[in-house]
Amino acid sequence: MWKGRFSKATADLVQQYGESISYDWRLYAHDIAGSIAHARAQVKAGILTSDEFELIESGLLRIRERIEKGDFQFSIELEDIHMNIEAALTQDIGSVGGKLHTARSRNDQVATDTRLYVREQIDVLVDLFLTFQTSLLAKAEQYLETPIPGYTHLQRGQPVTVAHHLLAYVEMFARDIERLRDCRKRTNKCPLGSGALAGSTINLDRHQIAEELGFDGVTTNSMDAIADRDYMAELLFTLSLAGMHLSRWSEDLILWCSAEFGFVNLSDAHTTGSSLMPQKKNPDVCELTRGKTGRLYGNLVSLLTSAKGLPLTYNRDLQEDKEPLFDSIDTMIIALKVNAEMVQEMAFREDVCLAAASDPMLLATDLADYLVKSGVPFREAHELVGMAVAKSIETQTPLHELDFPALSSHYDAGASGVFSLQKALAARTNPGSPSIQNSRLEITRWQKWISSPLEKKPH
Ligand code: ARG
Repeated sequence: MWKGRFSKATADLVQQYGESISYDWRLYAHDIAGSIAHARAQVKAGILTSDEFELIESGLLRIRERIEKGDFQFSIELEDIHMNIEAALTQDIGSVGGKLHTARSRNDQVATDTRLYVREQIDVLVDLFLTFQTSLLAKAEQYLETPIPGYTHLQRGQPVTVAHHLLAYVEMFARDIERLRDCRKRTNKCPLGSGALAGSTINLDRHQIAEELGFDGVTTNSMDAIADRDYMAELLFTLSLAGMHLSRWSEDLILWCSAEFGFVNLSDAHTTGSSLMPQKKNPDVCELTRGKTGRLYGNLVSLLTSAKGLPLTYNRDLQEDKEPLFDSIDTMIIALKVNAEMVQEMAFREDVCLAAASDPMLLATDLADYLVKSGVPFREAHELVGMAVAKSIETQTPLHELDFPALSSHYDAGASGVFSLQKALAARTNPGSPSIQNSRLEITRWQKWISSPLEKKPH
């Protein structure tokens, strides 16, 4: 492509070192769409006749078909997807293929391709997050009234329900979806026409190109447009954060399906056995999800590091953006699919959940609240109940069986009445609290949110 200036062919090692076709081939459809829009604008600018345009368009569409059929030989001598397609086009339709690159550089081409790719994958990811949320909501509905202990420091704290716990994750994934949709807005600007870095003396109609490709508008500084990888970094950050959420979800499940907790049974289809210990049933999907969070973080740091020291505008370092990008997207797509399926098929052991949540210690705070309602300052109430807890441990008497009025005159005969799990949950009606009534409303609210039309363009 640059033979004019050079008297020696590129060394084999340099070709091996510099090729990106082994992974950027997957941008082929976006590259071809970008080329067709670019060629159409060339007609308007008088660079191509309509006949030439038709030759180029049909040639590009044939290449797309061949790639899709597996009938296309990618070559590392042609470095990347852009040059592979352009060379195949010229081979197919002759020298008119050489007109396509007028007023264009691989720099604005790759920026366009990756923006189109990121936009498309954001839509795929949003749909998968919504499906995952739907499966969490279905379980929340199924176990709407099943109490479990809520934990801080992994020590039993206060009672909640399975529904409330699952709804906490629905919140997190909703924020991830919002971040994806927000990132899509900044991604969806067309950099084509920025050329190598300084636009071109041949002015193609950038707005027409942007519209044909479904962009919301054009980028407004050629140097920024060429150097910018923010949209990728934003996506990789969003996927890192979502990975953290999925990892915490995995950790909860790993605990819950241990013999020590025993709250959940994962389906045999989503667990594995041990080659040595016949009794084992391991939550490998959860562990893999937790483990793969590491690569999501790594990919983000890799991109940020590759870009951080670069002078404007394009530098070859930027070719290192694609593998982390593809890897994070692929990793998240399969993680969401497998997690949604696993949630659909898992079953809570309601008797075990209820037994754990029936620990009267979980209502120690409610007892302090009870004292507060009769005028005892909270700090004093806290100390009084703390003393009752110590007594319960010392005398091996379950907390709710203590004779409270005998412990302090602040208690009245109604104190033992605090120890009703149902009442304790029912009393938590403030917005955001785990009453069953609240969870029911939250489930309906989220179901509506999920089925509300997406802010999505047809592209
Ligand atoms: N394969 C290259 C990349 O991914 C395309 C842009 C090449 N531009 C250049 N000036 N060498 O970044």
